[in-house]
Amino acid sequence: MALVSTKEILDKAMRSGYGVGAYNVNNMEQIQAIMLAAKDTQSPVIIQASRGALKYSSFIYLSYLMKAAIIDNPDIPIAMHLDHGNSLQSVIEAINLGFSSVMIDGSLLEDGKTPSTYDYNVKVTREVVDYAHKRNISVEAEIGTLGGVEDGVGSHSGKAKLTDPNEAKRFVCETGVDSLAISIGTSHGAYKFQGESKLAFDVLQDVRSLINIPIVLHGSSSVPKCLVDKVNQYGGKLSGATGVPMESIQKAIQFGVSKINVDTDGRLAMTASIRKFFAEHPEKFDPRDYLSVARADLAKLISYKMKDFKTAGHSND
Ligand code: G3H
Ligand code: 13P
Ligand code: ZN
Repeated sequence: MALVSTKEILDKAMRSGYGVGAYNVNNMEQIQAIMLAAKDTQSPVIIQASRGALKYSSFIYLSYLMKAAIIDNPDIPIAMHLDHGNSLQSVIEAINLGFSSVMIDGSLLEDGKTPSTYDYNVKVTREVVDYAHKRNISVEAEIGTLGGVEDGVGSHSGKAKLTDPNEAKRFVCETGVDSLAISIGTSHGAYKFQGESKLAFDVLQDVRSLINIPIVLHGSSSVPKCLVDKVNQYGGKLSGATGVPMESIQKAIQFGVSKINVDTDGRLAMTASIRKFFAEHPEKFDPRDYLSVARADLAKLISYKMKDFKTAGHSND
């Protein structure tokens, strides 16, 4: 079986200087698309489920679909990761479902919205590390707060608090986490920047020089114009949607980011395909017809990302 921890995947990526995408999943077609891309490009992969995704699938369904991907792809290293765990309880639930890796996002309080204090973050992260490490589960934490509140995760104010590099160093020492998400100007969702995209690469470089564990970038979707245009062409309304250009993600990887979180781009790819399908085939109503088109288009998108992040070819590292 190819289930591994994110620590195993990310430590290798950090040493060799490539990025690994962590792709959010909610259903079978998304998981199959990601695995098709991973097989096609020979890439290790992190499939991640948010609390919302687990709830949507009554927990058990999604975890078994992820396990099916592992059985179906014995040659691909796969990590099953909990995205944005909000408490020790949510982490325990994921570990009981068979996840190999968890995130505890103590940058926000348990509501997933209110920015917390440094002390709160250290306390909840340490509890999770103590619990998870005893069971060989790797732990990602977050320091600094991402802007934006799209999709239910992000600070109430919508304002980002960029990571303080010295605080990041202290946090890693005080918690013993395996990887660290930092805030350098990205945000969740399809509306990341008003005007030009700007990331604080200086903060990233400072953090990289002070800590020696993999760095994680949330809110890393590129919101490709071609996908936004396709959604709008077939009746969608996404005006002013923008993301992080791929060149910026590649620069972030060069400067030391190892895990790149992508959810929004996958949503856009599937929505664009399904909208086009219905516009062109109003007579169709079998879910397999439109979901198979959406699955194929998502697989193509993820394959491109695996190549652009330089994950491709590393499944046997
Ligand atoms: O980081 C947030 C992810 O995009 C998950 O979003 O909570 O709507 O599943 P969700
Ligand atoms: P995007 O909204 O940019 O895809 O970010 C997803 C994410 O960070 C999941 O944790
Ligand atoms: Zn996130």
